[in-house]
Amino acid sequence: MTNVFANYSGDSVFRDRYTLTPEFVPPEMPCREEETNRMVEALSILLDPYRSVAVNFAIIGEAGVGKTTLAKLITNHLADYAIQQNIQLEVQYVNCHSFRTKTAILRKLANEKFAMHGRGFSDEELMEMLATRLDRENKRLVLIIDEAGMLRAEDILGLIHINELFGPGIGRLSTIAITRISDWMTMLDTHLSGRIQDKLELENYDREQIETILKYRRKLGYYHEALPDDVLNLIIDVSANSGNARHGIEIMLRAGMIANTKRAKVVTPEFVRAARNEIYAELRPDIFRDLKFNELAAAVAVGRLLSKKGAASYTTINESFEVFKLVCAENKVKPPGVATYRNCIKELSRLGILVYKVKPVGSNARGRHSVIGLMDIPAVILIERVQEVMKEYQSKRGKF
Ligand SMILES: Nc1ncnc2c1ncn2[C@@H]1O[C@H](COP(=O)(O)OP(=O)(O)O)[C@@H](O)[C@H]1O
Ligand SMILES: [Mg+2]
Repeated sequence: MTNVFANYSGDSVFRDRYTLTPEFVPPEMPCREEETNRMVEALSILLDPYRSVAVNFAIIGEAGVGKTTLAKLITNHLADYAIQQNIQLEVQYVNCHSFRTKTAILRKLANEKFAMHGRGFSDEELMEMLATRLDRENKRLVLIIDEAGMLRAEDILGLIHINELFGPGIGRLSTIAITRISDWMTMLDTHLSGRIQDKLELENYDREQIETILKYRRKLGYYHEALPDDVLNLIIDVSANSGNARHGIEIMLRAGMIANTKRAKVVTPEFVRAARNEIYAELRPDIFRDLKFNELAAAVAVGRLLSKKGAASYTTINESFEVFKLVCAENKVKPPGVATYRNCIKELSRLGILVYKVKPVGSNARGRHSVIGLMDIPAVILIERVQEVMKEYQSKRGKF
Protein backbone atom coordinates (compact mmCIF):
# COMPACT_ATOMS: atom_id res chain seq x y z
CA MET A 1 0.00 0.00 0.00
CA THR A 2 1.36 3.42 -0.90
CA ASN A 3 1.59 5.85 1.95
CA VAL A 4 -1.89 7.17 2.64
CA PHE A 5 -0.63 10.71 3.06
CA ALA A 6 1.09 10.63 -0.32
CA ASN A 7 -2.36 10.57 -1.89
CA TYR A 8 -3.57 13.46 0.21
CA SER A 9 -4.44 16.19 -2.26
CA GLY A 10 -3.68 19.09 0.04
CA ASP A 11 -6.61 21.00 -1.45
CA SER A 12 -8.43 22.65 1.36
CA VAL A 13 -11.30 24.96 2.14
CA PHE A 14 -9.11 26.34 4.94
CA ARG A 15 -6.76 29.25 4.59
CA ASP A 16 -5.39 28.33 8.03
CA ARG A 17 -7.08 25.44 9.78
CA TYR A 18 -5.08 25.90 12.96
CA THR A 19 -6.98 29.12 13.70
CA LEU A 20 -10.14 27.06 14.24
CA THR A 21 -8.64 24.69 16.80
CA PRO A 22 -9.37 25.13 20.52
CA GLU A 23 -5.74 26.02 21.42
CA PHE A 24 -5.58 28.97 19.05
CA VAL A 25 -5.74 32.41 20.62
CA PRO A 26 -7.00 34.90 18.02
CA PRO A 27 -5.11 38.19 17.75
CA GLU A 28 -8.33 40.10 18.38
CA MET A 29 -11.56 39.58 20.29
CA PRO A 30 -14.38 41.50 18.67
CA CYS A 31 -17.32 42.22 21.02
CA ARG A 32 -15.07 42.14 24.10
CA GLU A 33 -13.50 45.58 23.78
CA GLU A 34 -15.00 46.95 26.98
CA GLU A 35 -14.07 43.83 28.95
CA THR A 36 -10.54 44.08 27.57
CA ASN A 37 -10.26 47.65 28.80
CA ARG A 38 -11.48 46.72 32.25
CA MET A 39 -9.04 43.90 32.57
CA VAL A 40 -6.15 46.03 31.31
CA GLU A 41 -7.05 48.64 33.89
CA ALA A 42 -7.00 46.07 36.68
CA LEU A 43 -3.74 44.43 35.61
CA SER A 44 -1.85 47.58 34.64
CA ILE A 45 -0.64 47.97 38.20
CA LEU A 46 1.54 44.91 37.62
CA LEU A 47 3.66 47.08 35.34
CA ASP A 48 4.58 49.55 38.05
CA PRO A 49 8.39 49.69 37.83
CA TYR A 50 8.86 50.72 41.46
CA ARG A 51 6.54 48.50 43.40
CA SER A 52 5.62 44.86 43.14
CA VAL A 53 1.99 44.34 44.09
CA ALA A 54 -0.35 41.42 43.55
CA VAL A 55 -3.76 41.49 41.93
CA ASN A 56 -6.41 38.83 42.37
CA PHE A 57 -8.83 38.95 39.52
CA ALA A 58 -11.81 36.78 38.57
CA ILE A 59 -13.40 36.16 35.19
CA ILE A 60 -16.88 34.72 35.41
CA GLY A 61 -19.28 33.48 32.77
CA GLU A 62 -20.86 30.48 31.10
CA ALA A 63 -19.20 28.16 28.59
CA GLY A 64 -17.91 29.56 25.32
CA VAL A 65 -18.12 33.25 26.15
CA GLY A 66 -14.40 33.85 25.73
CA LYS A 67 -13.15 33.64 29.33
CA THR A 68 -10.07 31.52 28.66
CA THR A 69 -9.25 33.33 25.44
CA LEU A 70 -9.52 36.77 27.00
CA ALA A 71 -7.24 35.77 29.88
CA LYS A 72 -4.64 34.31 27.51
CA LEU A 73 -4.76 37.15 25.03
CA ILE A 74 -4.39 39.86 27.63
CA THR A 75 -1.68 38.13 29.61
CA ASN A 76 0.25 37.59 26.36
CA HIS A 77 0.16 41.34 25.85
CA LEU A 78 1.04 41.90 29.49
CA ALA A 79 4.11 39.66 29.28
CA ASP A 80 5.26 41.28 26.02
CA TYR A 81 4.87 44.74 27.44
CA ALA A 82 6.71 43.81 30.61
CA ILE A 83 9.71 42.78 28.51
CA GLN A 84 9.67 46.15 26.78
CA GLN A 85 9.56 47.87 30.17
CA ASN A 86 12.32 45.72 31.61
CA ILE A 87 10.05 44.23 34.22
CA GLN A 88 10.49 40.59 35.18
CA LEU A 89 7.05 39.11 34.75
CA GLU A 90 5.99 35.57 33.98
CA VAL A 91 2.61 34.11 33.19
CA GLN A 92 1.61 30.55 34.01
CA TYR A 93 -1.65 28.98 32.82
CA VAL A 94 -3.17 25.98 34.59
CA ASN A 95 -6.43 24.25 33.85
CA CYS A 96 -7.82 22.67 37.00
CA HIS A 97 -9.29 19.79 35.02
CA SER A 98 -5.70 18.59 34.75
CA PHE A 99 -4.28 20.12 37.94
CA ARG A 100 -6.72 19.42 40.71
CA THR A 101 -4.82 20.35 43.85
CA LYS A 102 -2.68 23.14 45.21
CA THR A 103 0.22 20.72 45.33
CA ALA A 104 -0.10 19.87 41.63
CA ILE A 105 -0.18 23.55 40.71
CA LEU A 106 2.79 24.42 42.92
CA ARG A 107 4.83 21.62 41.37
CA LYS A 108 4.00 22.79 37.89
CA LEU A 109 4.99 26.34 38.78
CA ALA A 110 8.27 25.22 40.33
CA ASN A 111 9.02 23.03 37.38
CA GLU A 112 8.10 25.26 34.49
CA LYS A 113 9.12 28.63 35.81
CA PHE A 114 12.16 27.77 37.90
CA ALA A 115 13.24 24.35 36.61
CA MET A 116 12.95 23.02 40.16
CA HIS A 117 11.84 19.52 41.03
CA GLY A 118 8.79 19.81 43.22
CA ARG A 119 8.60 16.18 44.26
CA GLY A 120 9.39 15.26 47.83
CA PHE A 121 8.60 18.70 49.21
CA SER A 122 5.59 19.74 51.24
CA ASP A 123 3.38 22.56 50.01
CA GLU A 124 4.88 24.87 52.59
CA GLU A 125 8.41 24.05 51.50
CA LEU A 126 7.50 24.56 47.87
CA MET A 127 5.92 27.93 48.64
CA GLU A 128 9.05 28.98 50.54
CA MET A 129 11.25 27.94 47.65
CA LEU A 130 9.09 29.75 45.13
CA ALA A 131 8.98 32.88 47.27
CA THR A 132 12.76 32.89 47.66
CA ARG A 133 13.27 32.61 43.93
CA LEU A 134 10.71 35.30 43.15
CA ASP A 135 12.35 37.63 45.63
CA ARG A 136 15.87 36.93 44.51
CA GLU A 137 15.01 37.38 40.84
CA ASN A 138 12.70 40.30 41.53
CA LYS A 139 9.98 38.53 39.59
CA ARG A 140 6.25 38.92 39.31
CA LEU A 141 4.16 35.91 38.49
CA VAL A 142 0.67 35.85 37.06
CA LEU A 143 -1.13 32.55 37.57
CA ILE A 144 -4.19 31.89 35.43
CA ILE A 145 -6.35 29.34 37.25
CA ASP A 146 -8.82 28.11 34.64
CA GLU A 147 -11.91 26.08 35.59
CA ALA A 148 -11.17 27.13 39.16
CA GLY A 149 -14.44 25.55 40.29
CA MET A 150 -12.68 22.18 40.13
CA LEU A 151 -10.35 23.35 42.89
CA ARG A 152 -11.27 23.83 46.52
CA ALA A 153 -11.55 27.49 47.48
CA GLU A 154 -9.02 27.00 50.27
CA ASP A 155 -6.49 25.74 47.74
CA ILE A 156 -6.79 28.95 45.75
CA LEU A 157 -6.56 30.93 48.97
CA GLY A 158 -3.48 28.94 49.90
CA LEU A 159 -1.81 29.94 46.66
CA ILE A 160 -2.65 33.60 47.21
CA HIS A 161 -1.15 33.37 50.71
CA ILE A 162 2.30 33.00 49.22
CA ASN A 163 2.31 36.80 49.15
CA GLU A 164 2.56 36.84 52.94
CA LEU A 165 6.10 35.52 52.63
CA PHE A 166 7.31 38.82 51.18
CA GLY A 167 7.87 42.13 52.89
CA PRO A 168 4.91 44.28 53.92
CA GLY A 169 3.02 45.73 50.97
CA ILE A 170 4.85 43.53 48.49
CA GLY A 171 3.07 40.93 46.41
CA ARG A 172 4.60 38.80 43.71
CA LEU A 173 1.96 36.24 42.83
CA SER A 174 -1.14 37.52 41.08
CA THR A 175 -4.05 35.27 40.19
CA ILE A 176 -6.68 35.27 37.49
CA ALA A 177 -9.36 32.78 38.52
CA ILE A 178 -11.75 31.71 35.77
CA THR A 179 -15.05 30.16 36.81
CA ARG A 180 -18.54 29.35 35.69
CA ILE A 181 -21.24 31.49 37.24
CA SER A 182 -22.57 28.64 39.39
CA ASP A 183 -19.11 27.88 40.79
CA TRP A 184 -18.62 31.54 41.55
CA MET A 185 -21.80 31.52 43.62
CA THR A 186 -20.32 28.76 45.77
CA MET A 187 -17.04 30.63 46.10
CA LEU A 188 -18.88 33.68 47.37
CA ASP A 189 -19.60 31.65 50.49
CA THR A 190 -15.90 31.36 51.26
CA HIS A 191 -13.09 33.62 52.42
CA LEU A 192 -11.79 33.63 48.88
CA SER A 193 -14.37 36.16 47.75
CA GLY A 194 -12.86 38.73 50.12
CA ARG A 195 -9.48 38.33 48.48
CA ILE A 196 -10.59 38.97 44.93
CA GLN A 197 -10.28 42.67 44.23
CA ASP A 198 -11.89 42.78 40.86
CA LYS A 199 -14.20 40.56 38.89
CA LEU A 200 -15.28 40.63 35.31
CA GLU A 201 -18.50 38.99 34.29
CA LEU A 202 -18.76 37.99 30.64
CA GLU A 203 -22.34 37.93 29.40
CA ASN A 204 -23.48 35.36 26.87
CA TYR A 205 -23.16 36.52 23.28
CA ASP A 206 -26.32 37.51 21.43
CA ARG A 207 -26.92 36.59 17.79
CA GLU A 208 -25.40 39.74 16.38
CA GLN A 209 -22.22 39.25 18.39
CA ILE A 210 -21.96 35.60 17.40
CA GLU A 211 -22.30 36.72 13.79
CA THR A 212 -19.51 39.27 14.16
CA ILE A 213 -17.25 36.74 15.87
CA LEU A 214 -17.86 33.90 13.44
CA LYS A 215 -17.36 36.15 10.43
CA TYR A 216 -14.06 37.25 11.91
CA ARG A 217 -13.07 33.62 12.52
CA ARG A 218 -14.07 32.72 8.96
CA LYS A 219 -11.74 35.44 7.68
CA LEU A 220 -8.86 33.92 9.66
CA GLY A 221 -9.58 30.28 8.91
CA TYR A 222 -11.34 29.94 5.58
CA TYR A 223 -11.02 30.98 1.98
CA HIS A 224 -13.94 33.34 1.83
CA GLU A 225 -15.83 31.64 -1.00
CA ALA A 226 -15.48 28.22 0.68
CA LEU A 227 -17.98 29.09 3.41
CA PRO A 228 -20.77 31.18 1.87
CA ASP A 229 -22.90 33.52 3.97
CA ASP A 230 -26.06 31.44 3.81
CA VAL A 231 -24.21 28.37 5.10
CA LEU A 232 -22.43 30.36 7.77
CA ASN A 233 -25.83 31.63 8.85
CA LEU A 234 -26.86 28.07 9.71
CA ILE A 235 -23.85 27.82 11.98
CA ILE A 236 -24.59 31.20 13.52
CA ASP A 237 -28.12 30.00 14.32
CA VAL A 238 -26.86 26.99 16.24
CA SER A 239 -24.21 28.92 18.09
CA ALA A 240 -26.47 31.86 18.93
CA ASN A 241 -28.99 29.49 20.45
CA SER A 242 -26.61 28.77 23.29
CA GLY A 243 -24.67 32.05 23.20
CA ASN A 244 -21.60 29.82 23.02
CA ALA A 245 -18.98 30.86 20.46
CA ARG A 246 -17.02 27.63 20.85
CA HIS A 247 -19.92 25.68 19.49
CA GLY A 248 -19.93 27.69 16.23
CA ILE A 249 -16.17 27.55 15.78
CA GLU A 250 -16.15 23.79 16.30
CA ILE A 251 -18.79 23.35 13.65
CA MET A 252 -16.80 25.58 11.29
CA LEU A 253 -13.79 23.33 11.80
CA ARG A 254 -15.62 20.01 11.46
CA ALA A 255 -17.72 21.05 8.47
CA GLY A 256 -14.58 22.16 6.64
CA MET A 257 -12.84 18.88 7.40
CA ILE A 258 -15.82 16.98 6.03
CA ALA A 259 -15.72 19.14 2.89
CA ASN A 260 -12.02 18.34 2.48
CA THR A 261 -12.48 14.59 2.81
CA LYS A 262 -15.19 14.75 0.18
CA ARG A 263 -12.93 16.90 -2.00
CA ALA A 264 -15.60 19.57 -2.11
CA LYS A 265 -14.58 23.17 -2.64
CA VAL A 266 -17.49 24.65 -0.75
CA VAL A 267 -19.11 23.79 2.58
CA THR A 268 -22.76 22.83 2.12
CA PRO A 269 -25.66 22.81 4.63
CA GLU A 270 -25.38 19.03 4.57
CA PHE A 271 -21.80 19.18 5.90
CA VAL A 272 -22.90 21.60 8.61
CA ARG A 273 -25.59 19.16 9.76
CA ALA A 274 -23.12 16.30 9.82
CA ALA A 275 -20.59 18.41 11.73
CA ARG A 276 -23.20 19.37 14.23
CA ASN A 277 -23.92 15.73 15.01
CA GLU A 278 -20.24 14.94 15.37
CA ILE A 279 -19.81 17.56 18.03
CA TYR A 280 -21.05 16.51 21.42
CA ALA A 281 -20.47 12.91 20.47
CA GLU A 282 -21.61 12.07 24.03
CA LEU A 283 -25.08 12.85 22.75
CA ARG A 284 -25.08 10.65 19.64
CA PRO A 285 -28.61 9.41 18.93
CA ASP A 286 -27.55 5.76 19.23
CA ILE A 287 -26.50 6.36 22.83
CA PHE A 288 -30.00 7.46 23.71
CA ARG A 289 -31.55 4.51 21.91
CA ASP A 290 -29.99 2.25 24.55
CA LEU A 291 -31.61 4.14 27.39
CA LYS A 292 -34.77 3.24 29.29
CA PHE A 293 -37.69 5.62 29.46
CA ASN A 294 -36.87 6.69 33.02
CA GLU A 295 -33.38 7.65 31.97
CA LEU A 296 -34.58 9.60 28.96
CA ALA A 297 -37.12 11.41 31.09
CA ALA A 298 -34.43 12.20 33.66
CA ALA A 299 -32.25 13.72 30.94
CA VAL A 300 -35.17 15.85 29.73
CA ALA A 301 -35.92 16.99 33.28
CA VAL A 302 -32.34 18.07 33.94
CA GLY A 303 -32.12 19.69 30.49
CA ARG A 304 -35.28 21.71 31.09
CA LEU A 305 -34.14 23.01 34.44
CA LEU A 306 -30.69 23.92 33.24
CA SER A 307 -31.90 25.58 30.06
CA LYS A 308 -33.86 27.95 32.28
CA LYS A 309 -31.02 28.54 34.69
CA GLY A 310 -28.31 28.86 32.07
CA ALA A 311 -26.35 25.99 30.63
CA ALA A 312 -23.48 26.16 33.08
CA SER A 313 -25.50 26.00 36.26
CA TYR A 314 -26.36 23.06 38.46
CA THR A 315 -29.44 21.41 39.84
CA THR A 316 -29.99 18.82 42.55
CA ILE A 317 -31.71 15.44 42.79
CA ASN A 318 -34.63 16.86 44.74
CA GLU A 319 -35.20 19.84 42.51
CA SER A 320 -34.97 17.91 39.25
CA PHE A 321 -37.05 15.02 40.61
CA GLU A 322 -40.06 17.35 40.61
CA VAL A 323 -39.59 18.15 36.92
CA PHE A 324 -38.95 14.47 36.22
CA LYS A 325 -42.38 13.60 37.63
CA LEU A 326 -43.93 16.15 35.27
CA VAL A 327 -42.14 14.66 32.28
CA CYS A 328 -43.45 11.22 33.30
CA ALA A 329 -46.97 12.60 33.61
CA GLU A 330 -46.76 14.20 30.16
CA ASN A 331 -45.90 10.78 28.79
CA LYS A 332 -48.56 9.03 30.87
CA VAL A 333 -45.99 6.96 32.69
CA LYS A 334 -46.10 6.33 36.45
CA PRO A 335 -42.92 7.83 37.97
CA PRO A 336 -40.66 5.63 40.12
CA GLY A 337 -39.37 6.73 43.52
CA VAL A 338 -36.50 9.08 44.14
CA ALA A 339 -33.98 6.26 44.73
CA THR A 340 -34.60 4.91 41.22
CA TYR A 341 -34.42 8.41 39.87
CA ARG A 342 -31.01 8.88 41.48
CA ASN A 343 -29.80 5.70 39.80
CA CYS A 344 -30.96 7.06 36.43
CA ILE A 345 -28.89 10.19 37.02
CA LYS A 346 -25.90 8.07 37.98
CA GLU A 347 -26.24 6.06 34.79
CA LEU A 348 -26.48 9.23 32.67
CA SER A 349 -23.40 10.51 34.42
CA ARG A 350 -21.54 7.27 33.75
CA LEU A 351 -22.34 7.63 30.05
CA GLY A 352 -20.96 11.18 30.06
CA ILE A 353 -24.34 12.68 29.18
CA LEU A 354 -24.36 14.73 32.35
CA VAL A 355 -22.25 15.34 35.40
CA TYR A 356 -23.24 14.15 38.87
CA LYS A 357 -20.62 15.11 41.38
CA VAL A 358 -19.88 16.28 44.84
CA LYS A 359 -19.27 19.96 44.58
CA PRO A 360 -15.59 20.50 45.32
CA VAL A 361 -15.78 24.20 46.08
CA GLY A 362 -16.65 25.60 49.46
CA SER A 363 -14.88 25.25 52.75
CA ASN A 364 -17.99 24.48 54.77
CA ALA A 365 -20.17 21.39 54.86
CA ARG A 366 -22.99 23.30 53.23
CA GLY A 367 -21.04 23.51 49.98
CA ARG A 368 -20.45 19.77 49.77
CA HIS A 369 -23.71 18.39 48.48
CA SER A 370 -24.01 16.55 45.17
CA VAL A 371 -25.08 18.49 42.13
CA ILE A 372 -26.16 17.66 38.60
CA GLY A 373 -24.85 19.67 35.69
CA LEU A 374 -23.70 19.56 32.10
CA MET A 375 -20.10 20.02 31.05
CA ASP A 376 -19.95 21.94 27.81
CA ILE A 377 -23.14 20.67 26.25
CA PRO A 378 -25.83 23.30 25.89
CA ALA A 379 -29.03 22.19 27.64
CA VAL A 380 -31.07 22.99 24.53
CA ILE A 381 -29.04 20.47 22.53
CA LEU A 382 -29.56 17.81 25.18
CA ILE A 383 -33.32 18.34 25.19
CA GLU A 384 -33.48 18.42 21.41
CA ARG A 385 -31.64 15.14 21.03
CA VAL A 386 -33.43 13.27 23.79
CA GLN A 387 -36.79 14.38 22.52
CA GLU A 388 -35.99 13.12 19.04
CA VAL A 389 -35.44 9.68 20.50
CA MET A 390 -38.50 9.92 22.75
CA LYS A 391 -40.64 10.72 19.74
CA GLU A 392 -39.39 7.60 17.99
CA TYR A 393 -40.34 5.61 21.07
CA GLN A 394 -43.75 7.15 21.30
CA SER A 395 -44.53 6.04 17.79
CA LYS A 396 -43.87 2.44 18.82
CA ARG A 397 -45.16 2.50 22.36
CA GLY A 398 -44.98 -0.48 24.61
CA LYS A 399 -41.25 -0.48 24.38
CA PHE A 400 -40.91 1.21 27.75
N1 LIG B 1 -14.94 37.73 21.10
C1 LIG B 1 -14.37 36.68 20.48
N2 LIG B 1 -13.71 36.85 19.32
C2 LIG B 1 -13.16 35.79 18.68
N3 LIG B 1 -13.20 34.54 19.12
C3 LIG B 1 -13.85 34.30 20.28
C4 LIG B 1 -14.46 35.35 21.02
N4 LIG B 1 -15.03 34.84 22.12
C5 LIG B 1 -14.79 33.52 22.09
N5 LIG B 1 -14.08 33.19 20.99
C6 LIG B 1 -13.66 31.83 20.61
O1 LIG B 1 -14.68 30.95 21.06
C7 LIG B 1 -14.15 29.77 21.62
C8 LIG B 1 -14.58 29.66 23.07
O2 LIG B 1 -13.94 30.65 23.84
P1 LIG B 1 -13.29 30.32 25.26
O3 LIG B 1 -12.40 31.44 25.62
O4 LIG B 1 -12.70 28.97 25.21
O5 LIG B 1 -14.61 30.32 26.16
P2 LIG B 1 -14.77 29.96 27.71
O6 LIG B 1 -13.40 29.87 28.30
O7 LIG B 1 -15.59 31.08 28.24
O8 LIG B 1 -15.52 28.67 27.74
C9 LIG B 1 -12.64 29.87 21.43
O9 LIG B 1 -12.30 29.20 20.24
C10 LIG B 1 -12.40 31.36 21.30
O10 LIG B 1 -11.26 31.61 20.49
MG1 LIG C 1 -12.52 28.16 29.14
